[in-house]
Amino acid sequence: MSTYASDFIHYLAAKKTVDDRALNRYVWETLLAYWPGGTEERPCHILEIGAGIGTMIQRLHEHTLLRQVTYTAIDALPANIQEAQRRLQAIPFPIAPKLEAIDLFDFIHREQGQQQWDLLIAHAFLDLMDIPHTLPQLFTLLRPGGLFYFTLNFDGATILQPTIDPAFDALVERLYHQTMNERLTNGQPSGDSQTGRHLFGQLRQVGAQILAAGSSDWVVYADANSYYGDEAYFLHVIIDTMHSALAHSPALDPQQLADWIAQRHAQIEAGELVYIAHQLDFVGLKPEAK
Ligand SMILES: C[S@@+](CC[C@H](N)C(=O)[O-])C[C@H]1O[C@@H](n2cnc3c(N)ncnc32)[C@H](O)[C@@H]1O
Repeated sequence: MSTYASDFIHYLAAKKTVDDRALNRYVWETLLAYWPGGTEERPCHILEIGAGIGTMIQRLHEHTLLRQVTYTAIDALPANIQEAQRRLQAIPFPIAPKLEAIDLFDFIHREQGQQQWDLLIAHAFLDLMDIPHTLPQLFTLLRPGGLFYFTLNFDGATILQPTIDPAFDALVERLYHQTMNERLTNGQPSGDSQTGRHLFGQLRQVGAQILAAGSSDWVVYADANSYYGDEAYFLHVIIDTMHSALAHSPALDPQQLADWIAQRHAQIEAGELVYIAHQLDFVGLKPEAK
């Protein structure tokens, strides 16, 4: 089915420039204003979960934020962690990041009560989780007074232009979001197409204080028929992901869907496709214990 067989590592690499543009500047500035700093004697301890191939580490390094920090990054996929090691090996970090292939829940189980971090990062990750189940456990890893930076949380809008067929386009969007809501991992719910908006209440429920929140929409379009960097590949994978998610939907005619998908790929080839995904960023605090 997949014409542009997705190589996940290639996809994550192509996604970086899209993410760089999307990250909410106000939320980012607030993160910097509260950045926990660190000294040689007492470095700042950062934990990133679902870190993929390490593009957030690269980004923070590019902003010279990783001087006096220890950085622990975990991801469930060993191939991602290997690629992160490869990509980061040339960077002369004062303290080399610690990268580990481990499932988040195994990590929580191992570290709970052992260690707490000053800053917890989850980038393009929380919308894959069952938040009411995950967030309370995650917050046990953050010290009281510690910061969280939760970015690119999908929030219920997938916009594709130009329109092919208004009714069919809308149906595809609705059913695609429904697949996110119904996704199961190891038999457990694992996703929410409105993660962004739901995080306001869910963060409040775990006692977190939101310092800043704002949109971090992906906006991908071609300039003079050419997409920036490797973003055409990124778009092909997004369209393939929609196809895979919907291929067995009883509400869609398979041939109509296949034709629609082929047209979307053709729009990318012609530099015509505009893709917008609505997402939200958050930065906040775990309050000090009273
Ligand atoms: C959409 S990707 C984002 C990766 C990276 N943060 C980025 O934006 O480039 C989500 C990542 O979460 C990882 N992941 C999913 N479930 C996980 C779990 N239970 N524990 C650890 N990592 C997980 C996946 O392997 C994947 O690399």
